[in-house]
Amino acid sequence: MSEFVKIVEVGPRDGLQNEKTPLTLTDRKNLILDLMQTGVSAIEVGSCVSAKWVPQMAMSDQLFAELPKDPKISFSLLTPNIKGFESALAVGCQEVAVFTAASESFTQKNINCSIDESFAKFADIFVEAKRHNIKVRGYVSCIVDCPYEGAIDPKVVAQVTKRLLEMGCYEVSLGETIGTATPNRVKKVWDACLATTDAKLLAGHFHNTYGMAIANIYQSLEQGIRVFDSSIAGLGGCPYAKGASGNVSTEDLYYLLSNMGLSTGINVDALMRASQNISQVLQRHNPSNYANAYWQQRCA
Ligand code: HMG
Ligand code: MG
Repeated sequence: MSEFVKIVEVGPRDGLQNEKTPLTLTDRKNLILDLMQTGVSAIEVGSCVSAKWVPQMAMSDQLFAELPKDPKISFSLLTPNIKGFESALAVGCQEVAVFTAASESFTQKNINCSIDESFAKFADIFVEAKRHNIKVRGYVSCIVDCPYEGAIDPKVVAQVTKRLLEMGCYEVSLGETIGTATPNRVKKVWDACLATTDAKLLAGHFHNTYGMAIANIYQSLEQGIRVFDSSIAGLGGCPYAKGASGNVSTEDLYYLLSNMGLSTGINVDALMRASQNISQVLQRHNPSNYANAYWQQRCA
């Protein structure tokens, strides 16, 4: 049997958090309903953050509550503090994600506190998460470059990652937030992290600003990483990383993994339907090379 690679679909959260005009709750829900048909086993539904900071993610708890649940899919919400965690808990969310960075400046801009302060906020979340048996995923942003500080030391990435795992995260996703990295630099980050941490506890989260996300994922696969975040139709960007484009598209990730003989559980027809529907809602050209080739072949 071929080896399984887990795809975490972050389109409804990372993908939509940067839209100039926030999508309606109905459009956000329809996207998730489409994604539930694709075979992905994890979907990030939204963020329980301040609607003043990220209006695109307002009412993510309500969106979560309205979703039909499928026991084969893990649905998660981003929670920066105990207030966000309590909103997630109130709607029966079983998995949350905490997020910090390997850059002090980015952490300040993103969540209005230092890296140490972010861990103090997470401590409250871990106490409650343990009590309610809720899984906590961790994110570290700016693993290669920071939009405010430039190059980041891989040792710092490894330290922050280890700290999140020691606190109780079951997995930490390493965010290449601004999509400037190339595989040689990604290799150094994994080398630093893998010196102290098992690859099974790590995930890769690559943005595609310079078209390097697939190359960076290939590098990560070579070093044993088997969980990747991706966004349908390559949607997204971070409101606190100007100019950064969306995540690697789920379509391109699927193409890479399936052609490498790795299994993903993805149903390609359902994936293409989801990708076409959201591109129509947003009235936007889909940047995924695979999606474009797929439709060209269909129409030929
Ligand atoms: P703050 O202003 O420092 O918080 O914001 P505060 O505790 O001083 O509260 C200020 C106001 O926010 C209060 O409301 C609170 O009630 C409210 P007011 O009295 O003014 O009406 N508030 C909240 N409301 C809803 N949910 C909450 C919450 N907490 C406080 N959880 C805060 C701190 C973290 C809330 C703010 O900075 C924020 O919302 N930041 C947005 C962070 C974000 O969503 N960033 C994007 C996601 S991270 C990302 O994209 C990177 C990633 O993809 C990986 C990668 O690519 O690198 C994961
Ligand atoms: Mg991101």
